Amino acid sequence: MFDRFNRRIHYLRISVTDRCNLSCGYCMPEEGIPFVGRDQILSFEEIRDLVAVAVGMGVTKVRLTGGEPLVRRGILDLVQMLAEIPGIKDLCMTSNGILLRDYALPLRQAGLGRINISLDTVDPARFRDITGGGDVSQVLEGIEAARNAGLQPVKLNCVVTDSPDEPDARGVANYARDCGLEVRFIRRMDLKTGQFWPIMGSDGGHCEICSRLRVSSDGRIFPCLFDNTFFSIREQGIETALRLAVENKPGAGNRSDMGIHTLGG
Ligand code: 5AD
Ligand code: SF4
Repeated sequence: MFDRFNRRIHYLRISVTDRCNLSCGYCMPEEGIPFVGRDQILSFEEIRDLVAVAVGMGVTKVRLTGGEPLVRRGILDLVQMLAEIPGIKDLCMTSNGILLRDYALPLRQAGLGRINISLDTVDPARFRDITGGGDVSQVLEGIEAARNAGLQPVKLNCVVTDSPDEPDARGVANYARDCGLEVRFIRRMDLKTGQFWPIMGSDGGHCEICSRLRVSSDGRIFPCLFDNTFFSIREQGIETALRLAVENKPGAGNRSDMGIHTLGG
C-alpha cells in the first residue's frame, strides 16, 4: 500500500490492551484516561483477521504494544496465531520488561521474533520514582531472559527529558554497551501540547519516511500516531478501514491532545 505521499505503508502497531503494570509519570495524563471497556477490546480472532487482511494488502511488520502487552491474558496464544499468518516477516513487541523473565522463552517459542524493552534508568530508586513503584531488577532479569531466549535483536527504549547526556540515560547507555544492546533514546513527549520529536536511530517521528498505521485496542485504525483521525474496523470493515487510513495518512504529524496510549506504549 502506498499513501498520497508515496510512502509504502507496511507496518502495523497494534495495542492489545491499554492497561499496564507500571504507571510512568509521563505516560498518563493527570486526569487519567478512560480505559477501553473489556467488552470493546478486540478479540484475538479480530486481531488475527485484521492482520491477515493487512498482510494481503502489503503489511509485513507487526508490533504488539499496550499499555503493557504482557498483561493481556492469553498473549502467547495471540502471538502464535499471528506468527502462523504467512507473509509476516517481522513480528515484534514493545514491553516494559516487568513480566519478561517468565515470558521471554514462551514468546520466542510462540513465534515472536524480537522485542524492544523500555528502560529509562538502571538506578533502582530512580526507576521506582519514574514508574510509580516498579522494581528495575525485574526488568534487568527480563532483558537477560530475552537475550537467552534468542529474541533478536533486543533493543532498549530510553525516554529522556532533553538529551541522552542526562545521568539516567548515560547509565542506560553504559549498561547497554556492557551487554552489547542497542538503545534508542526517545525524547519525552509533552502530553499537554502533544509536542513530539524524531526518535534518535529509528523512523519513529520522522514523518517523511513513516511507514506505519496504529491500531487501538478497540479496533480503531489511526493513520498517524500524532493525529486524532481514525477509522473503525468494526464499523467500516477491516479492508475499508485500512484503505481509508492509508488514504488519509497525513504528510506530517499534528500536535495531538491524546494520551500516550496513542503512542502505543
Ligand atoms: N514521551 C515519549 N515516549 C513515551 N512513551 C510513553 N510515554 C511517552 C512520552 N510521554 C513510550 C516510551 C516507553 C513506551 C512504553 O512508550 O517509549 O518506553
Ligand atoms: Fe506502562 Fe509504558 Fe506507560 Fe510506563 S510508559 S506506564 S511502562 S505503558
